Amino acid sequence: MTKNKTILRALAGETLPTPPIWMMRQAGRYLPEYKATRAQAGDFLSLCYNPELAAEVTFQPIRRFGFDAAILFADILLVPQALGAEVWFVTGEGPRLSTITTQAGIDALKPVEAIHETLSPVYETVKILSNGLPAETTLIGFAGAPWTVATYMIAGRGTPDQGPAHALKAGNRPVFDALMERITDATVLYLSEQIKAGAEVVKLFDSWAGSLQGADFEDYSLKPMQRITAAIKALHPGVPVIAFPRGAGEHYRGTHDTIGAECIAVDDGVSAEWVAANVQTNGCVQGNLKSSHMVTGGDALVSETRRIVDALSKGPHIFNLGHGITPDGEPENVQLMIDTVRGG
Ligand code: CP3
Repeated sequence: MTKNKTILRALAGETLPTPPIWMMRQAGRYLPEYKATRAQAGDFLSLCYNPELAAEVTFQPIRRFGFDAAILFADILLVPQALGAEVWFVTGEGPRLSTITTQAGIDALKPVEAIHETLSPVYETVKILSNGLPAETTLIGFAGAPWTVATYMIAGRGTPDQGPAHALKAGNRPVFDALMERITDATVLYLSEQIKAGAEVVKLFDSWAGSLQGADFEDYSLKPMQRITAAIKALHPGVPVIAFPRGAGEHYRGTHDTIGAECIAVDDGVSAEWVAANVQTNGCVQGNLKSSHMVTGGDALVSETRRIVDALSKGPHIFNLGHGITPDGEPENVQLMIDTVRGG
């Protein structure tokens, strides 16, 4: 059964004649059917905690496009919420959280074992997906990497330069380290439950890894992802891990080995040719197409898609964007990307 799943084959190191494909944020606001289900749920977080509807939006892009993988519909900010932070979304602006910058804030967090009280609906979603997906479709679970989750918990919102998190790291290292540790431990438990419920692969999103300079990149992006990966592999041998240290630039080199992940997801800040020569040499790679092609489409989309497929054709490759599709992406352009990857 495993062997019919092209995503699992690529993650096992196989070079396939046609790369399997899925897309970051493939369930999302560019799809009218997503907007309809979200309206039915009421708001974004209610959608995340409604197993039937969260499964429905996960299925939608599989039905419409036949992607080779489905990614669980949830959010990286559910873990902070499960640890006791307040989380809400402001329409048109993004997430807001209660902030943590002191030892008292750490002490007020829930113990990691308590996260399942909040997150159990997510495990239900995974079960529905695991039972309902086509036999050839791989189910990917996910969590935010500790640094990225910490940046939101410290600042209380998304920040362009992650300034508040860098300030806490510089100004109160024990509190910063305690927060990173709590997130790391919670993430292991969370991903482990997703796997028990049926997730076949897990992905760690370190969306803000690019602002960590020098040794900080090793200490706060790579090492926490390595710890989580090692813990997951000890609990669930054979479950592949995809790591996404977004914005790593030339530091993508060597990350398969330092993290211990089967696959490294790359953004669009490096060229596919560079990735082939410097990253794919150590294992499977995923990503790279600029999300803006989903807005603009046309010949540029086709030629860039072909260029990435060609550049990465000599090793294990999963086709994907360099970051999530935006709400102004066109479903027709997604179809054109898929046809180009599959049809040459
Ligand atoms: O990819 C998928 O289809 C699976 C679901 C998924 C979502 N968020 C749904 C979502 C995944 C894997 C995520 C990860 C996530 N969430 C990340 C890491 C990946 C990345 O984009 O860098 C981050 C940083 C978040 C936090 C987050 N969630 C932000 C900053 C926002 C607001 C920005 C935005 O696009 O509106 C969200 C909201 C969010 N998460 C939406 C979706 C579909 C849009 C919510 C809506 O419907 O209004």
